[in-house]
Amino acid sequence: MQLTVIGTGYVGLVTGACLADVGNDVICVDIDKAKITKLQRNILPISEPGLQDIVERCQADSRLSFTVNIAEGVKASEIIFICVGTPNTNTGTINLDAVKTIIKYVREQATSPKIVVMKSTVLPGTNAKLLDMLNAEGASHTILSNPEFLREGCAVKDFMEPDRVLIGHHENVSMLKLYKIYAAFIAIGVPVINMSLEDAEMAKYAANCFLAMKISYANQLAMICETVGADVLKVLEGIKHDARIGDQFLNPGFGYGGSCFPKDIEAFVAFAQNIDCPATFAEAAKLVNYNMFKLAVEKVREASGGLKGKTIGILGLAFKPETDDIRHSIGVHLADYLVSHGARVQVYDPEAMKNTWGLLRGAVTYANDPYTAADCADTLVLCTEWDEFNEINWVEMKSVMKGCAFVDGRNMFDGKTLESVGFKYTGVGV
Ligand code: UDX
Repeated sequence: MQLTVIGTGYVGLVTGACLADVGNDVICVDIDKAKITKLQRNILPISEPGLQDIVERCQADSRLSFTVNIAEGVKASEIIFICVGTPNTNTGTINLDAVKTIIKYVREQATSPKIVVMKSTVLPGTNAKLLDMLNAEGASHTILSNPEFLREGCAVKDFMEPDRVLIGHHENVSMLKLYKIYAAFIAIGVPVINMSLEDAEMAKYAANCFLAMKISYANQLAMICETVGADVLKVLEGIKHDARIGDQFLNPGFGYGGSCFPKDIEAFVAFAQNIDCPATFAEAAKLVNYNMFKLAVEKVREASGGLKGKTIGILGLAFKPETDDIRHSIGVHLADYLVSHGARVQVYDPEAMKNTWGLLRGAVTYANDPYTAADCADTLVLCTEWDEFNEINWVEMKSVMKGCAFVDGRNMFDGKTLESVGFKYTGVGV
């Protein structure tokens, strides 16, 4: 099927590439000319396992193309996926400017009825309003809500093998056409669930709030465990075997980051307040996450004996492993905070350092490896649990440092092992 995907960020690029890979002809549109020119040459703006191969293969087979010409994209396909950003505004709600611009383009450029598939995260009730905008001049376009749940770092796998696909709709004909696109997924047993537009919009926030709440619950337990002298990892082991609780998204650390959880929880809290139905659970998740950053700062301050004049190494700037994304990254926020409080900061990340230059350049020293980040440091802080940190030789690491404090913001290492080679170890809730 001929498809158009508008927006080539994480969601759009993965969606476009994967839909081409399962046999569709896909045109990806973006207003960023430099990005499109690079994509046409198979140079990807993001680092995502497996994506490079798919883009190269599908462009070579002429099933995937990239353009800045939105009119061309709108005219070419009956089905148009919207995958543009919906960032937070200062008032906590979300900015729909990019989405509305595309709706306007579709309204103006379409010469036949279109099916707009909304993948961008929008608050409940938004798609119904966008549908009114789209058909304001009497056209008969439709909108489907098809929220995306992929995680950065395993986005291709999540797209190709989703836990479920949600299709929010207001009429059946367009819904059945989207069903056909997902036929390959249905064939491997993926549940495709139909619902109203509002149900699908709400389900996206319900999922992200629940996951953020799980993490914040584990983090809150970690703080209580520290006070009572219990080990949160043992406590969690004691509850994870209960199938009703499960073992995922309960890893304590310096809090959640990324492009989705902080933004979505913030927007949902503001939305719920506006409709006089406070989302108290989401508010609590947000507050705990904020407190985790304060806890991170206090742990580093205490481990270093103050911040002013201290040298602190940071391992990990990506908001999580296997991505170069630094949006709402604890490592970046911490580096910034430590510098502004008089510390010398040395950072290392396998993928994300290039993305922090605009924010941190000049203020921190970039290291080529973990040992250089620790060179003459009073304290070493781990903010992202990259697999390659498992290769660290801790005896060598200790020998390059001035001090011996190691603050493990992801509970990645065993404290006793590190203490056996001379480190003073601090984890989160352990
Ligand atoms: C998330 C959702 O998982 C995805 O379904 C949604 O569509 C977009 O937002 P993503 O932002 O890529 O995906 O990252 P995710 O793997 O969910 O992690 C988010 C943050 O939570 C990271 O900072 C991670 O380190 C943190 N986290 C995760 C924890 O602190 N503890 C955990 O147990 C799990």
